[in-house]
Formats: sequence, C-alpha cells, structure tokens
Amino acid sequence: MAEEIISPMEIDGGASDEAMKAASKGKNVVVMAPFTKSTPWVEKYRPQSLADVAAHRDIVDTIDRLTSENKLPHLLLYGPPGTGKTSTILAVARKIYGPQYHNMILELNASDDRGIDVVRQQIQDFASTQSFSFGVKASVKLVLLDEADAMTKDAQFALRRVIEKYTKNTRFALICNHVNKIIPALQSRCTRFRFAPLDATHVTERLKHVIESERLDVDENGLKALVRLSNGDMRKALNILQSTHMASPHITEEAVYLCTGNPMPKDIEQISFWLLNEVYVTCYKHITDMKMRKGLALVDIVREVTMFIFKIKMPSDVRVHLINDMADIEYRLTFGCSDKLQLGALIASFTKARSALVACVK
Ligand SMILES: Nc1ncnc2c1ncn2[C@@H]1O[C@H](COP(=O)(O)OP(=O)(O)OP(=O)(O)O)[C@@H](O)[C@H]1O
Ligand SMILES: [Mg+2]
Repeated sequence: MAEEIISPMEIDGGASDEAMKAASKGKNVVVMAPFTKSTPWVEKYRPQSLADVAAHRDIVDTIDRLTSENKLPHLLLYGPPGTGKTSTILAVARKIYGPQYHNMILELNASDDRGIDVVRQQIQDFASTQSFSFGVKASVKLVLLDEADAMTKDAQFALRRVIEKYTKNTRFALICNHVNKIIPALQSRCTRFRFAPLDATHVTERLKHVIESERLDVDENGLKALVRLSNGDMRKALNILQSTHMASPHITEEAVYLCTGNPMPKDIEQISFWLLNEVYVTCYKHITDMKMRKGLALVDIVREVTMFIFKIKMPSDVRVHLINDMADIEYRLTFGCSDKLQLGALIASFTKARSALVACVK
C-alpha cells in the first residue's frame, strides 16, 4: 500500500484536504502533530526535506547523493548554532525511512545522559539488533548523537569500537558545535562536514519565505536589521522575527533593535562621535544618559563601537591599541565588573587614542 507523509507545514498551510484525499485513495497517511499558532517559527519552518535546507548546497547535495545510492558513511556535522545541522540529518532520516523514521533511528541529545553506560547499553542494544520494518528500503539503522561535544571522553572512547563493530547495519551521525571536543579517533571514523554561518543572501531568502507565509509587514531596513543581528544564525533570525512581530505589527529597523535591546546604528554613530570629540566629563554624561534612556548594555555598546573603529580612518598603531583596550574592557565586563568603571575605561582609551592622533599630525 502506498504511503505518504503529510507534513505539519502543509496542514498549517491549509493542505488538510490533501490528507483527506490521499486517505480516500487508500494511501497510508502519516500525519505529524499539527502546528498551532503558538508553535515557535523555528520548529514550524524547520526544513522538512533536504531541498528545503538553505545554503550549504554542496554538503546537502553530497549527502543526498550518498543516501540515494545507499552509501551513507558515518557522519560528523559540525559548526556554529542555528546553521541547519540537526535539520539536515533529520531530513536525511525522513528521506531514508519515510514513515518508519521513528523506529529506525536512535536519537540522543544533550538532554539525555550520554556517559559510558549509555554507549554500553542503549547504543549497543540498538546497534546490535537487526530491524525488520515493512516499507523501508534501507536496511541500515541510524544512531543520531546530537550535541556530541557534550559526551564524556570515556563514552567517546567506548564508541570507537561500537562504531566499527556494527558498521554493517548501523550508521552513526555525530553533530556538534566544537569539533575539537570530539576525540581524533572518532573524527577519523566519520566523514566531516562543516556547516558555516549562513551568508546574508540565504538568511534573507529564508526570512522572505517566512514573511510571505505569515503575511508579515516587514520593510526593507527591518529585514536588513534582522539579517545583520542574526550573524548567520538562522534560528536567531527566526526568533527575532517572531518576537518583533509579537511586539509590533510593523517590523521596522527600530522595532527590531528595540525588541532585541541592541543599540541602533545611529546611536552607535552618536556615541562614537562623542567618544572622538567631546571632553571626558561631557562624554561620560552623554553616554550614561543614553544608556539610561534606551536601556542599553555597555557590552553591546563596546562590541558595536569596536566595529565602528574598524571603519574609520586612523594610523594602524592607534587602531591596534584601541582594539586591544576594547578587548580588555569586553573581557572585564563578561566577568561582571562595574559598568560605570568600564565606561570610564572606554572613554579613557579614546582620550588616549585622540592624544596619539594629535601627536601623529604634529
Ligand atoms: N540551513 C537552513 N535552512 C533553513 N532553515 C534553517 C537552516 N539552518 C537553520 N534553520 C532554522 O533554524 C532552526 C534550527 O536549526 P537546526 O536545529 O538545524 O540548527 P543546528 O545547526 O542543529 O544548531 P545547534 O548547533 O544549536 O543544534 C531550524 O528549525 C530552522 O528553522
Ligand atoms: Mg542541533
């Protein structure tokens, strides 16, 4: 009997009729839990198939080809958060196993215990038994170890032998953010793929897709601000979009910055102007006022001002000292040092840089 999966997105998009039609034609229809209005968009718009995964075309095509030819190796996917690692592997599992997907994979993530006992019991038990599932073409099962960098070293050492022993009927997919936390022996057993942060065009494209589906009112600068603040993290982009949408019906640049609490580019320009032109006391007063008025955090200001320093023209030795000072201030702020003192240090660094600039001109 033919089987068909109706994805939640289709149901949400009004395709429940399709499900009914498919059912009436005698197909087995597997309906996943439908999305409600309160479903976070990161889940609602999680790519369902490999074709939906934005960017990383070469990686996705390679994995697609390997699965089609039934030659899937052990995989190690790594890269920063929100770049589609988990989504890609889930799409692969859906492609290989279809509706039997939940029977054929063992998924362990950071919320599960992943010490040596789990490798010895759960993973070995799953890998060592042969599964016979009707309607599944591939005979290999998949062990999915998400957030594998959180696995203990002992567990990783134990996994080395397990991977080799059960290669005949099981494939392992390891996913992590920090590849250097995976022991070299495991790395060499897997084919590695690096998921880089998404570039601006891909984030924009994917956001436009969500904006159209949700019929949102987003202006051009608002979209640019979303892309800028996401820094190549698609999950972050979608989360900011959803929270800004809840806060205001029109998504503008200002609304996005307000919602995230990030300083606006024009505020940073103003602060940089004060830092470069005003005397110490006035500068301190203006910045403190603005921080209070707009609820800005000094650490955000330091980060953005640093970007500004890269843009303005100055002799390289002055720039080097200034950047070094910014790095020190940021470091101290992360350890909870006083905002007031660090603001003083920020202005002091700029005062020093200005004196150096004047000396250069003379
Ligand atoms: N390449 C992509 N194409 C489309 N959507 C994406 C992509 N990457 C991330 N997303 C969106 O971000 C959400 C999170 O992605 P995913 O869980 O795959 O990230 P991840 O790389 O596993 O991150 P983490 O390292 O934090 O686990 C997805 O639900 C999806 O909505
Ligand atoms: Mg993940």
